[in-house]
Amino acid sequence: MCGIVGAVAQRDITPVLVEGLRRLEYRGYDSCGVAVYADGELRRTRSTERVSELAALIDQEHLTGYTGISHTRWATHGAPATHNAHPHFSAHGHDKPRIALVHNGIIENHDELRAELQAAGYVFESQTDTEVIAHLVNHLYSGDLLEAVQQAVRRLQGAYAIAVFCRDEPHRVVGARQGSPLVVGLGKNENFLASDALALAGTTDQIIYLEDGDVVDLQLSRVWITDHQGRAVERKVNTVQVHSGAAELGPYRHFMQKEIFEQPRAVGDTLQDIETITPELFGDGAYKIFKEADSLLILACGTSYYAGLTAKYWIESIAKIPVAVEIASEYRYRDSVPNPRSLVVTISQSGETADTLAALKHARSLGMTHTLTICNVATSAMVRECQLAFITRAGVEIGVASTKAFTTQLAALFMLTLALAQVHGRLTDEEEAEHLKALRHLPAAISSVLALEPQIISWAERFASKENALFLGRGMHYPVALEGALKLKEISYIHAEAYPAGELKHGPLALVTDQMPVVTIAPKDALLEKLKSNMQEVRARGGELYVFADADSQIVRDPGMHVIRMPEHYGKLSPILHTVPLQLLAYHTACARGTDVDKPRNLAKSVTVE
Ligand code: F6R
Repeated sequence: MCGIVGAVAQRDITPVLVEGLRRLEYRGYDSCGVAVYADGELRRTRSTERVSELAALIDQEHLTGYTGISHTRWATHGAPATHNAHPHFSAHGHDKPRIALVHNGIIENHDELRAELQAAGYVFESQTDTEVIAHLVNHLYSGDLLEAVQQAVRRLQGAYAIAVFCRDEPHRVVGARQGSPLVVGLGKNENFLASDALALAGTTDQIIYLEDGDVVDLQLSRVWITDHQGRAVERKVNTVQVHSGAAELGPYRHFMQKEIFEQPRAVGDTLQDIETITPELFGDGAYKIFKEADSLLILACGTSYYAGLTAKYWIESIAKIPVAVEIASEYRYRDSVPNPRSLVVTISQSGETADTLAALKHARSLGMTHTLTICNVATSAMVRECQLAFITRAGVEIGVASTKAFTTQLAALFMLTLALAQVHGRLTDEEEAEHLKALRHLPAAISSVLALEPQIISWAERFASKENALFLGRGMHYPVALEGALKLKEISYIHAEAYPAGELKHGPLALVTDQMPVVTIAPKDALLEKLKSNMQEVRARGGELYVFADADSQIVRDPGMHVIRMPEHYGKLSPILHTVPLQLLAYHTACARGTDVDKPRNLAKSVTVE
């Protein structure tokens, strides 16, 4: 969501604060800002433009300092405006500002605290919940910033990661986390804070992951951490290889395009030259847990939820184990019937999605203690919270629209299907060998699908003038249709809906006119003939079909029927391959409409608020 960087050093720290924001900008880009301690006072520069504009302003204003914090914002409370941009300052009466603070998350009791602080004479300049924390820390400050922050966080309800510094103690930054990620970066006579280690790539690779309830006191040559009870604690120092090149575009126009084209590598890395399927790929003790599982409960959001829906088709058909897939934000609040023998599987690119984490905790509180995550970030809260983990190796995903994370999740979920089938005695050696052969072929198969790009560009040019689109799939390609529609709507702003093709006649057919492009996923599977009938229903109403058909599916082009032929037929792995052209269609349509592909309006990467 939002991004935080903080630093205490003996050199001008603004370049580190700005570079960190550049790396985190994809997480939230409604506004950004930097505050430093300089010449006995707090100074800041804020902007509602991008980090590059902020950097130019900082140069113009000669903002430099040894201690500072910075922030990129995804607006929750208060519109994206300069006065709502972080860092927020707190001054009392006519005093000069004493406290500077940045915050990720949402403070639920901000109204009550605001009223209390207003009564104590604090004047609010923004509509944010963050300014409440800044004033609260100032109000509680009596010479020791650590103490003031420890007292302040006890009053906060909700989720937060904060970084704060004080004019009266210029060589100190204090951080705290509860529900939102925060890391410490260790340097030589300088120390750093960030909401993600990625922000510190190139500055330090020595990273401490703070835990919920931790408060950290950062000084030049000292890092002091206390837990939720105020007790001093040691947290492990990790050497984290964040590839600083991960945030570079290279020859691509957008990160989304780069990430689409990285998929052969990402899926290949995720499969790790797999020779044989063993449950231990998912962690120690997986055999026993898989054996005991009589069903699966998959929890996820957005694109990761669609990966879960696809897995349901695989697991039920190959491993013969019943699967329920739930949208995490719904599951966490509804009355459900828990099954203690169910294996809870969370799917998440970031591993920090607040709704999925809360759903996981909810499932556990209902007695479902066996948990597995399929996650792209080995150091994330999700991995720490689950008994078992499979780390996809997509690498850092910067484009807000998820692409390589989805296909690597699917590859991992197919391996999970095979492992479950094996443990439950539902897979012969021959079948396993066949599936493994298909998995090993995946990177090459994805490369040959990527070669369809020129044909897809010509379709995208037609889509660019449309305001609505329909996506159809059947069986395990229905979730692929959902994912295709989500990709198109989030980056091109074309309204797109997905339906299982058999549902058309039950309502959505009413929408079909010659203005409605209907994207159809038509693999050569058992449902192809049924799908062809559904396509005729569309043609009969003047709808224009854009069909991704497998090589030998015998779907013929005619004026209202555009066909792109996939190079092969991919059997059970077909959903992975059929996703790729839909990503390219969304990407090129968005480019043709001139939208900000990597930073679509109103969105942000990694949703760490509810
Ligand atoms: C869509 C997209 C989102 C995420 C969702 C879950 O392109 O990226 O729908 O899939 O916010 O995020 P993770 O997977 O990080 O839990």
